[in-house]
Amino acid sequence: MTELTRNQAAGSAATDTAATHTGTKAGHPMWSSRLAFILAASGSAVGLGNIWKFPYITGENGGGAFVLVYLVCIALIGIPINSMRQLAQRDGLSRRWAWIGGMGMLSSYLILSFYSVIGGWALAYVGKSAGGLFVGASTEQIGAQFGTLLSDPYSLLLWHSVFMALVITIVARGVTSGMEKAINILMPLLFLLLLVMVGYALSTDHFAEGFGFLFTPDFSKLSTEGVLTALGHAFFTLSLGMGVMMAYGSYLPKHVSIAKTAVTVSVVDTVVALLAGMAIFPIVFSSGLEPGAGPGLIFNTLPIAFGQMPGGVLFGTLFFILLVVAAVTSAISLLEPVVEWFEEQKGISRLRCTLIGGIGVWALGILSILSLNEWSGFHPLGFISRFENKTLFDLFDYATANLMMPLGGFFTALFLGWFMSRQAAANELSFGNPPAFKLFIFVLRFITPAAVLLVFVYNLL
Ligand code: TRP
Repeated sequence: MTELTRNQAAGSAATDTAATHTGTKAGHPMWSSRLAFILAASGSAVGLGNIWKFPYITGENGGGAFVLVYLVCIALIGIPINSMRQLAQRDGLSRRWAWIGGMGMLSSYLILSFYSVIGGWALAYVGKSAGGLFVGASTEQIGAQFGTLLSDPYSLLLWHSVFMALVITIVARGVTSGMEKAINILMPLLFLLLLVMVGYALSTDHFAEGFGFLFTPDFSKLSTEGVLTALGHAFFTLSLGMGVMMAYGSYLPKHVSIAKTAVTVSVVDTVVALLAGMAIFPIVFSSGLEPGAGPGLIFNTLPIAFGQMPGGVLFGTLFFILLVVAAVTSAISLLEPVVEWFEEQKGISRLRCTLIGGIGVWALGILSILSLNEWSGFHPLGFISRFENKTLFDLFDYATANLMMPLGGFFTALFLGWFMSRQAAANELSFGNPPAFKLFIFVLRFITPAAVLLVFVYNLL
């Protein structure tokens, strides 16, 4: 990360439009436009976090109140950090704070290990859907299909391997150009398909119940742990791991308003998550399922809809393909910073770095696979009451989303709010609006760190 920053600083002094990113051999071009950057940043942000994780943690944490806290976290914490760190990167000021990047990189790495396993589930579901396995299947049969997948470490390993192979191949070849085009077409398509799913949800007689579950806050259902989960998820879903957006943001031409871009990406990301929720919860209620069923939620609900709607085989197959694409574009952004860092530190070729990094993360993923079946009774921190029932997989998720990311976010906010030159920030955020800028800095200096710390400490006690 240090090297990246230095290159960036040197690069932007030299030229604004040419390939400034000299850290890699080929030298990346700048994103061709603001839209292209938004697409790439959304490609990183929109992924399993929105469609898989958001609905299931919402279900586990009682619905509306959780969603409200999550939205507040996005607005007060996610958006300011999202804007400012892109800026920090562009300015080359984050050198002394590289350790935050180091922590972010470590969490990216851990996240990718289980993210890929879930990406594997989505891959498996492409096949199931195309094979017509959902057509006319009962809720129980669909649940059983998911159970069978989880209980079979070999198929999980196969799909996890296919997923990692895809990610490794793309990262090894260098990220930007092809991805821009793919995301350009596939992201809007995913969006459309989510609308189709919401349309189906509207046709069930439990739409109002599902909608109410999501949007009617009942604070008696929200625990302090739930607040921390909402906070952690705000970081997760916006890819606030330090590194990703910074790396992408460094390819952004100078005249582009970072603040607006960050807001756009955050809004797109949030809308996708809410649409997924609106599609899923009506099905949950109309099929008599449990909202708090856990990580299998979308795999137990959406197939019911695909099994019943006209054109369900086509829609279902397309949906899971697009889910895989969304997961892959996010996974790329989890591996990329690690590879970049490795490449610059060790001076090894990109291909080798990607292979070493990718195979390492693949091996780590096997632990998550085993904790779904063979090791499902293994609770490494079972002696601590709150971790009593957590498997290795659960602990990876918890450590990254509820500990490492909020802590990283806290220090990022401190750094961005207190240690970056205000003038540079004012110029580059291109607010063109002093009061908005003042508010922005105020939130970043006081509100964001205080909120993160409060939630965090309160939860530890
Ligand atoms: N935001 C992605 C999702 O919601 C996951 C992700 C991609 C991520 N890059 C990240 C999470 C970096 C944390 C850090 O699916």
